[in-house]
Amino acid sequence: MCSIIAYAGQRVAAPMLVQGLKRMEYRGYDSVGLATISNKHILVKKGVGKVEEVNKSLGLEKMNGSVGIGHTRWATHGGVTDTNAHPHQNCKNDIAIVHNGIIDNYSELKKSLIARGHKFRSETDSEVIAHLLGDFLHKKYDIKKAMINITKKLKGTYAFVAVFDDGTVAGARFDEPLIVGISKDGYFVSSDVLGFIEHTDKAIFLDNDEFVILNDNGHAIFNFDGSKVKKQVTQIAWELADAEKGRFAHYTLKEINEQKHTIINALFSKDSKLDEFCDVVAGAKRVVLTGSGSSYNAALIAKQLFSKYAGIHCEAVISSEFQYASGLLDKDSVLIAISQSGETADLLQAVKIAKASEARILSIVNTPTSSLARTSDLFLGINCGPEIGVAATKSFTAQLALIYRITDILSGQKLCPNKSDVERAIGKVLNDTKNIANIAEKIKYIGNIYILGRGLHFPVAIEGALKLKELVYVHAEGLPAGELKHGPLALMDENTTVIMLNPDDETYSDTLSNVHEIKARGASVIGVSNVNSNKYDNWIKIPKAKDILYPILEVIPLQLLAYHTALKRESNPDYPRHLAKSVTVK
Ligand code: F6R
Repeated sequence: MCSIIAYAGQRVAAPMLVQGLKRMEYRGYDSVGLATISNKHILVKKGVGKVEEVNKSLGLEKMNGSVGIGHTRWATHGGVTDTNAHPHQNCKNDIAIVHNGIIDNYSELKKSLIARGHKFRSETDSEVIAHLLGDFLHKKYDIKKAMINITKKLKGTYAFVAVFDDGTVAGARFDEPLIVGISKDGYFVSSDVLGFIEHTDKAIFLDNDEFVILNDNGHAIFNFDGSKVKKQVTQIAWELADAEKGRFAHYTLKEINEQKHTIINALFSKDSKLDEFCDVVAGAKRVVLTGSGSSYNAALIAKQLFSKYAGIHCEAVISSEFQYASGLLDKDSVLIAISQSGETADLLQAVKIAKASEARILSIVNTPTSSLARTSDLFLGINCGPEIGVAATKSFTAQLALIYRITDILSGQKLCPNKSDVERAIGKVLNDTKNIANIAEKIKYIGNIYILGRGLHFPVAIEGALKLKELVYVHAEGLPAGELKHGPLALMDENTTVIMLNPDDETYSDTLSNVHEIKARGASVIGVSNVNSNKYDNWIKIPKAKDILYPILEVIPLQLLAYHTALKRESNPDYPRHLAKSVTVK
């Protein structure tokens, strides 16, 4: 989604704002803008494009002033145009704002502001914030009072930051993240700690219904009713180096390769909260898992593992559908929420619903300071470091690995993975790049790709198809192999490519029969297996392993296949079109 960054201090703001935006560009990236204050005058520069491009053409980094705000936009209301890019200003140009989220009642607010003589420049919902603040200030409200009043007017989800021409910065949070960074020479306000982590590791996480004011007196945080709040300063643990690409051409490739460490870390996690987490799950009358996208696919695997190995039968409900599944939870139930970012709006809404039912909230999350982690009764970190590539790769397998660890405890150590076997097997699949790049060349212009698997392989098929959709923009579908004869077989012909997930476990021979049926209809088959077959047109070899490990060993080649096919089609795998890393709108 959109990213917000602000600085108020003693240093020149613009270069730090641009740097922060570059780090957060993964969140959303159709346009960019900065507003800085120099001699009590607000200067705004903004335009369509990536941070680097807009910086080059408009000289964002060269803007003067030690107070400023910046934004990368992921369009929701109004097209991708220079005018719709943030920051937006009020009529008198003495305020500029940046906003992340959606103001649901913007059209009614806009109408009444226009009726009072305000002139709007953009088609965005966000611009109402600048005009409303202007209205309050011109009624001689001070900035604090203007902030209290605007939060009463706005409906929807938002984090916004405003700069005023006297050098004050104010930011408010309601259902979108906003974090204050405290450095030796000034303050930052950002959507993500990555926006300022280079300058400070000290942060204050605003909660919902809170706003911050930064001025010559330092910082002050208030509830929306105006009462002052005392907040804890958190030390952020992540290493800055983790957010760099290093020797890799893309973050996505770097993150795929990091899996040899991230999977092991999660699979052999020594988190002191693990036992308590498992006790809560084991003691619950009902367990429901939820997540979005890849995190939901991990939930589907968890559902099968908990049931098969620990006798815990649970449901997996996709977060965006959670609100329609009534009567799911009560006070004896547990919701396990799975998320990389911990900021996904659909997931947070599911958590809100579960809380209202008095269910306990457990979470599996990568970002320990996220809204999800902070709102959960108990959370376990997957600790795979920042994931910048938009497509989930290392976070998905770290979620799986931690789910294995939990299953192992719940089942009384029935899984018992062997560390060096797992390391060796992951190393092997990561090294198969030549073969995968060759297959990518063959499938790069295929219009329809189906991925089939049974049992634990079915969620992996969905996950693999999601990677192809995101990175290659191809129609890809994950299906349970056994369902082929109930319909999808009609789609098979010589123009179809089918990827069969078929290692030699309990699903092997039935899936092999499906391979025969598909080949008989002329489709081309890529087998992902430890065993070759003369029916495969191409074979992605994975090592022989314990059955339980196959989902991890098959998904890595599927990630690599999507990555290499994206390269062959000359799309940037780090920044797939229309997508944002952290989906903080519904
Ligand atoms: C898939 C992908 C998305 C996310 C989904 C949930 O590659 O990146 O589908 O998995 O938006 O995000 P988190 O896990 O942050 O809640």
